Order: sequence, then structure tokens, then C-alpha cells
Amino acid sequence: MPKPRVLATHELFDAARAILQETCDVEYWTQADRPSRDEFLRRVKDKEGLVCLLTEKVNEETLRTAPKLRIAANVAVGFDNIDVPACTKRGVVATNTPGVLDETTADFAWTLLMAVARRLGEGEQLARSGTWKGWNLDQLCGADVWGKTLGIVGFGRIGRAVARRASGFQMKVIYSDAVRAPGEVEEALNAEFRDLNSLLAEADFVSVHVPLMAETRGLFDAPRLARMKPTAFLINTARGPVVDEAALVYALESGKIAGAALDVYENEPFIHPGLKRPNVVLAPHLASASLETRSKMARMAAENVVALFKGQRPPNMLNPEVLHTT
Ligand code: DGY
Repeated sequence: MPKPRVLATHELFDAARAILQETCDVEYWTQADRPSRDEFLRRVKDKEGLVCLLTEKVNEETLRTAPKLRIAANVAVGFDNIDVPACTKRGVVATNTPGVLDETTADFAWTLLMAVARRLGEGEQLARSGTWKGWNLDQLCGADVWGKTLGIVGFGRIGRAVARRASGFQMKVIYSDAVRAPGEVEEALNAEFRDLNSLLAEADFVSVHVPLMAETRGLFDAPRLARMKPTAFLINTARGPVVDEAALVYALESGKIAGAALDVYENEPFIHPGLKRPNVVLAPHLASASLETRSKMARMAAENVVALFKGQRPPNMLNPEVLHTT
């Protein structure tokens, strides 16, 4: 029996490769840059399986081009690059990598929060510049983090992992979400529910943890940003299009908010020039980027593919109904 042909749009890590190679005949994209759209389509067209990154769009066009495709395994928890209903219609299983990156991503949300509050970017630049003239009383004074109010928008696994870290800073934690968390979760995390507008008015730090979907696209628009305190900071490690970047630039320029720390952007890898300001910390979509976590994510994607081709149920299906109808 020939092995199923799989395209992996990255070399992945050793553990994931070892899992795939037993069951599949894998073509790896080995170049440092991401494949162009044309290159991706050319390579996926005769494949039955796909391990892809969030930079590849799996949409109608992809599915039309690759009629033999049976699974698209995303190496990411966010799956806005995958048209899941279109996959379902064509009987293609779609999977993601939930759970393994929550703590790592929460760590990074805190990294950004601390960095913007305490002006780390500006301090680092000064320290490296050769122009630092020594300690001074009012030099690069930032804002305290400890004792402040942390507002978490989106209280899923990652939002809750962010909340868990707040107690060490003696912070008050408030959150908003489409669905209120169970009482025992609120109690364990010492977190109080707010509607979004109240949260924005009250929080000193607003950390975004919602997935990108129709309801959350542009959630942070000009009116919502205007509700934030002029001393407050926005931290986004979720998805760029959740924040209207032009509105954010205006809020920063006009002093409607004190600063922002961003890991994600509306049109990656483009970064709006208006965001390149001293009171904004910028990172290139790194929140889950620890070697341990990225390696686990790749392994999960490989396990999803292998499970399907062994006739088992992939553990992280986004459209389980596909296996009921085929
Ligand atoms: C995800 O998994 O969705 C992140 O954005 C990349 O880790």
C-alpha cells in the first residue's frame, strides 16, 4: 500500500517528523521564507494530507486545487486561516493545536504588559545607544503594574492563564466574555465579570484573548478605544484584525490611551508606521514561540494527520461532523 502523500509547509521539529514518517510520504517545505501562494497551491494539489502554518490560507481555492485532500492540520490554535465550513462541505478534516500553548502565550502577554508599562523598549534603546549619561530621578519613569486593575477580554484558556499570573502582582482582575465563567472559576482566579464597556472604563491594562471571527473583527474600534482610560495600556497577543489599527494609531496619537504592546497585526507582516512610537512595544507574532511549545504544536498537528490515515479520529478536530458523514 503506498503511503498517503502529505505536504508539510515547514520542516517542523524532529518529534513531529518522526511521527509523520512512519505513516506518510511527506514533502517538506524547507526554505526559510514562507511559500508563495502559487508555490503552496502547486505543491498541495496532489496531496491527501496537509500540515500548514497560519500563514497558509486553506480556502475554497485550496480545496478546489487539492481535490484528494482529506485533512488540513494547522500548527496553531487560531484557525482563521482555514475556512472550516468549506472543508466540511468537501469532507476535509480540519484540526488545530489547542491547550499546549496557553501558558507560553500567557507568559508573553505578561512580557509585553511589563515591557510597555515600564518602558523597557525605550530603556533598552538608551542602554545600547552609548548616549546614556547615568541614573536620574525622573528618567524613563513608567507606570506601576502591581496593585492595578487587569482587564481580560476573552476568558478562555489563555485569558485564564493570564489571570492566574496576576495574583503575584496583587492586581484586581476583571474580565469580559460572551459567556460568563462558572462561579468556581471566577472564585479560583479572583476574577470579576464585567460587560466590555465597563471593563474598558475600569482597567489599567486591557489584554486581548478572543479568537478572530466575524463577531470580534474590529472589536477594538475608535468608540471602544475611546472608552479606555488615558492612563491605560492595550496588549494584544490574539489576532491583529481584532483591533482596528488606524483607530489605535489615532488613540495613541491623541493620548486617548497611554500605550500599547502588540504581538499581532492587521496585515502581517506589515506593521502600520503609526504604531512605531516610543509608547508602543512591538513583537513579531512570538507569543507561543518557546522551543518546547512550538515543538509540541508541530507534534500535535502530526498526530492529527497520522490518526486520520490510520483510520482513527484525529484528536483535535474542528469539524467532527465530517467523520459522521463520510
Ligand atoms: C496560534 O497558535 O494561533 C498563534 O497565533 C501562533 O502560535
